[in-house]
Order: sequence, then C-alpha cells, then structure tokens
Amino acid sequence: MEGSRSFIDPSRAHLFSRSAGKLLNLVRGEGVYVWDDEGKRYIDGSSGPVCVGIGYGVEEIADAARRQMEEISFAHSSHFTAKSVLECSEKLARFAPPTLNHVFFCSGGSEATEAAAKMARQYHLERGDASRYKVVARWQSYHGNTLGALSMSGNIARRRRYVPMLLDFPHIPPAYCYRCWFRKERGSCDLDCAWSLDTEIKAVGPQHVSAFIAEPVVGATLGTVPAPDGYFQVIREICDDHDVLLIADEVMTGFGRTGRNFGIEHWDIEPDIIATAKGISSGYLPLGAVIASDKVLNAFQDPFAHGHTYGSHPVACAVGAAVIDYIEKHKLVQRSAEHGPYLLKRLETLEDHPSVGDVRGLGIFAGIEFVKNKGSKEPFPPEVGFNRRVLERCFGNGLLVYPGVATIDGVRGDHIQVAPPLVVTRSQIDEIVALLDRSIAEAEQEVL
Ligand SMILES: Cc1ncc(COP(=O)(O)O)c(C=O)c1O
Repeated sequence: MEGSRSFIDPSRAHLFSRSAGKLLNLVRGEGVYVWDDEGKRYIDGSSGPVCVGIGYGVEEIADAARRQMEEISFAHSSHFTAKSVLECSEKLARFAPPTLNHVFFCSGGSEATEAAAKMARQYHLERGDASRYKVVARWQSYHGNTLGALSMSGNIARRRRYVPMLLDFPHIPPAYCYRCWFRKERGSCDLDCAWSLDTEIKAVGPQHVSAFIAEPVVGATLGTVPAPDGYFQVIREICDDHDVLLIADEVMTGFGRTGRNFGIEHWDIEPDIIATAKGISSGYLPLGAVIASDKVLNAFQDPFAHGHTYGSHPVACAVGAAVIDYIEKHKLVQRSAEHGPYLLKRLETLEDHPSVGDVRGLGIFAGIEFVKNKGSKEPFPPEVGFNRRVLERCFGNGLLVYPGVATIDGVRGDHIQVAPPLVVTRSQIDEIVALLDRSIAEAEQEVL
C-alpha cells in the first residue's frame, strides 16, 4: 500500500492518519469487548497496542479523573504539584522493585525512554564523567518514535525513512532464539547475544557509553519474544563492570502484563532505571513514567534538567493511581501469572497450522510468528501480505489482535501479538483462540 495514496479515505479526509487500512470507529467498550459504530462487537485480544490492562469502561477510573478535574485540573510541574501526583508517585515506588523509588512523570512511552536516556546522561555528568552519552540498544527492538527514542529503537523498518535524522547510538544483536543471530539452538548456547554487549561497549569505548536499554520481552518489533534464562543477569554484570546504567523499557511489559509487576523481575535483577507507560494508565489517559533507583537519584546534585508542559499532569496521575489500585484490588498481576500459561497452552494448539512457525510469551503476553515453510522457517514474501490477511480475517470474525511485519530483518516476517486485558477469563481466552484458529485457516486458504 506504500505509495498508493490509498490511505486517503474520503470518510476521514481531515485526519492525517498513520494507517493505510480502514479505521474501525469504536463507540463503546466494556471489559475485554469493544463495539464499533455499526454495532459490531469485537473481543480485544491485544488490549489495543498492549495497553488496556484493566479492560474498558471501568467506572472508578472515570470517577477518579472527574474528581481530579473538578478539584484541580492542571498544575505545571515546574512550580506546582497536586495530591494525585504525589499519590501516584508513592504507589509507583511501592509497585516497582525495592531500590527504584523516584518517579518522573511524562505522557507516554517515547517520552519515558527519551527522558531515561537524558537522565542517564545527567547521572554521569553529575559524577564528573562528561564524555558518557551513548545509549546502547538492540536491533529489532522498539523504544519509541520521537527522534531520540527512535535513535535507540532498533526497529529497522520504523527507522528507515529517518536514519539521517537519528543519533549515532550503537545496537547489538537481539535475544531472538527462534532465529538466533549467532546460529545457536535455544537452550544450548552461552548467551552470545548478552555477551555481545560487552564487546560493543569495549568497541565504542566505555568512557562514551551512558546506558544500555532493553525490553525484557521484545514487544511490537519481534512479536513478544522473552529474553532467555540468564540473559539479564549477564547484562547486569556487564553494565556494572563498565559503570553503564541499565534501563529496562517496561512500556509494554509493566503493570502485570508478564505475570510480575515489571517484566525484568523474572530475571531477579534490578535495573537502574525503568521507563514505563501504557498499562500505567491502562489507556484511559496518556501517562508515562521514569522510575529511578536510589543510586541514580543520589548522584544528582541538581534537579533533572528535563520536562514537558503535560508532565506530572494531575488528572493523568489520578488515573494512574486509580489503575494501580484496581490492579492490586483485583490481583491482576497474579491473574496474569495464572492465566498466562493457559493462554500459551491454548495458542500452542494453533501450531497445527502450516503457517504458525513459533508461539511464545510470558504472562498474558504472547506472540505468534508466521512462516511459509515451517521446516526451513522461510517467511512469506512481503508482497503476499500474510499478516494483513490474518488481520482482516480476525477483524471480520470479531477479534482484535496487534499485528507486526518486518519481524526478521526490517523487511521480511509476519507476527501478531496476543495480549488481552488482564481481566480476561479462561472462556474468553478460548473464544480468542477459536476466532484466531478460524482466521488463520481462512488466510492460509487464500495463499497456501
Ligand atoms: C517497549 C516500548 N517502548 C516504547 C514505546 C513507545 O511508546 P509510545 O507509543 O507511548 O510513545 C512502545 C510503544 O509501543 C513500546 O512498546
């Protein structure tokens, strides 16, 4: 569709859209279901873009926003604060790993990762280490679309058009066991992907490196790929050896999505900084946060030289605080840990399809990678548009999933993410898998 101008749909002539397809006009949501303006019901199998953790239409969240708007609707963070901002920061510090206690609020994921990169830079400056500024990241990762965040992102497809505008940040191979960049087999390697960080830092010169950023489970770019066992322990060791800060990008993996409060906790290490968004407000309002460890805060003599008009927005923070309360009250983190293996087991039944190459995930956070040939793992040629076909069939059958292409190398590869709201029941998981089964079969019929 690229270059065809088919993205200009006369019914939305004034919307400069990011999408080439027809946009569903959603009018109502409740729990894991949404309805469009034609009255059709969809089960949301991906929480939007892995965002709506607590489900749609929760009244107490709307109540919290309304109360805050009536009390004090805005307080600029340069000179003011509000009760909801302080409450949300306290709740977040409690929710985060023990040494991460200091919260800087922003309005989304890209703002969070970019603020984390600047925080790492100022941390080193404060310690008299002025030459450190480079953030090492991984290929086929995603940390956001603003220029700083995209410079860290290793999402080749999303970077392509903007490369001349990006900062020269280094990237190392991903931890992608299904298609290991080191040609090793899952479970029988020496974590070469993790050790490549050590090589890269030495090549760049540790004196220039401020931080390493990674998603504990790679979301949109690879289609929900958890790092292997032991990976982040090695990463932590390498960062410590070189005095490099470890930033966990928990924009998708935070707030119970993987069955722990934050995804990185599965590896029993603590990062120096967490960048998070999405599930923090469950999509009810734009909110993001950078959570810094005591070590990071203690290095600062001056305040953090960064901020936006809408950072620490009192209404967004009231929503964030209410969402955390809801997650705790309804034990949604435990629920994700309990229902996650069930979701994965049910999705594995789809491996009977000739196009389903790999099913992976952690908690209520799963992904399916499609292939043309299972034995050789050969992907579909991009012009087949296999993913688009699956997506169209899913939408037709009343199921929403989060699609991704260019999984393998920025050009080839198709995947979907399956990550329903954490309130999903087992029978709703069955409903999602049945609809997916049918949709994949229909897409296969078109091309195989
Ligand atoms: C891991 C990760 N980091 C950062 C971002 C950017 O977040 P936002 O779209 O809120 O700017 C995303 C968005 O999908 C993400 O998945």
